[in-house]
Amino acid sequence: MVQQRAFPKVVCVQEIQNWVRVEGDRLVFPGGGTSFPKGVKDYVDEIRRVVPLKSGNIRTALDVGCGDLLVGFEIIVKIRVASFGASLMDYNILTMSIAPMDIHEAQVQFALERGLPAMLGILSTYRLPYPSRSFDMAHCSRCLVPWTAYGTQYWNLELGVKSSCFLSMRCPNAPLSTQISQFQDHIILTIFFIKCLDGVYLMEIDRVLRPGGYWVVSGPPISWKSSYKGWERKAQDLEKEQISLEDLARRLCWKKIAERGPIAVWRKPTNHIHCIQKLKAWKSPHFCAETDPDAGWYKEMDPCITPLPKVTDIRSISGGALERWPKMLNTAPPRIRNGVTRGATVNTFNKDNQIWIKRVSYYGSVLKSLGAGKYRNIMDMNAGLGGFAAAISKQQVWVMNVVPFDAQNNTLGIVYERGLIGTYMNWCEAFSTYPRTYDLIHAHGVFSMYMGK
Ligand SMILES: C[S@@+](CC[C@H](N)C(=O)[O-])C[C@H]1O[C@@H](n2cnc3c(N)ncnc32)[C@H](O)[C@@H]1O
Repeated sequence: MVQQRAFPKVVCVQEIQNWVRVEGDRLVFPGGGTSFPKGVKDYVDEIRRVVPLKSGNIRTALDVGCGDLLVGFEIIVKIRVASFGASLMDYNILTMSIAPMDIHEAQVQFALERGLPAMLGILSTYRLPYPSRSFDMAHCSRCLVPWTAYGTQYWNLELGVKSSCFLSMRCPNAPLSTQISQFQDHIILTIFFIKCLDGVYLMEIDRVLRPGGYWVVSGPPISWKSSYKGWERKAQDLEKEQISLEDLARRLCWKKIAERGPIAVWRKPTNHIHCIQKLKAWKSPHFCAETDPDAGWYKEMDPCITPLPKVTDIRSISGGALERWPKMLNTAPPRIRNGVTRGATVNTFNKDNQIWIKRVSYYGSVLKSLGAGKYRNIMDMNAGLGGFAAAISKQQVWVMNVVPFDAQNNTLGIVYERGLIGTYMNWCEAFSTYPRTYDLIHAHGVFSMYMGK
């Protein structure tokens, strides 16, 4: 599935850059491109020298800006979507690849058609739709996200149609500009509030990274000394960018553990004991106060560090240590053992697992094609503790575990602590994907939840 049926014209122009090649009647995606000139496998091998990809401690990864796919009339001009996540499968690492719908076209659709976990996602105004402490590793290769720059917040008032407002007055003295444009028969007045915050996107990465998690970056500004000409950028600008990135990472209390050629790697601390001391001296940034660290549905990003659960011993892992993969799948995770999730105990967790093993076995007897290798992309619309995904995990499938944002208990953190992936969602809205991207959709207790809404 990670391969596609071949269309030779696609390949002939791309052979030199090694993004795609024909093998029999299949297209194979070695990765390639400017970031991975020798292919994504060599790129991941390089990361493996620094990040213990094979240890079983790295199970969930986030790839921000997962791909290019620019389609011409006759040929595909660029094509390397979610190859990083595809390559990590060799290490039993499950990668959530995200990218917006932009000039790179239907990159997420293409990733899903390759059978890779992906969804539309962007670092913009709102938090990513995942709980805090979800990913063991986050990655950006040439994703061009302005990690250290100011973001833009705007209030978009559409005259003549239903208005939609995204207004925040947290920054009331910020410079303000307006724009009037016309779309079909209505006028749009947009007021931009330029945000007075910087580094907010990296703070969001910090929120979703696990204690001790890794942040892997390649592309500008890393390795600017050798690459600035190829990127057609000024060396001084890139140098300044890298200095600010290093400074911001230091202020998040991350430790830079390597810079090897085009790749730089930082590590988030396993707890905030030292960071609390450092931040007292630095004054900026500050720890976020009184916000739910796990809130991730239409929740605006804040320019602050999400505090890790408190510990008293410097050697402790905040929130509790996870088992290694695959043991973590069926062991009650810390969010249950610590009693922080309402309604979930070790006992209910174990019972839930037993129930889902029986149900999935029953599904298999009714739906004969389940287990016949016909399905790859599966969605569970109301995943609860992730029991369905765990029970089906022996098959060659991956499950997008969806936890409705207004579910009685927020269980998505538990799902991630089991080494599974998923997202928050409001089923009154469209899912952040493309049509026809899932092979099987599982719904348990969804419709009763939305009755009368
Ligand atoms: C030049 S491509 C790099 C693709 C791939 N990572 C690689 O190295 O070949 C940039 C990618 O970043 C994505 N991107 C740009 N801004 C983003 C943002 N704010 N949040 C998420 N993705 C973003 C683009 O949609 C695109 O997928």
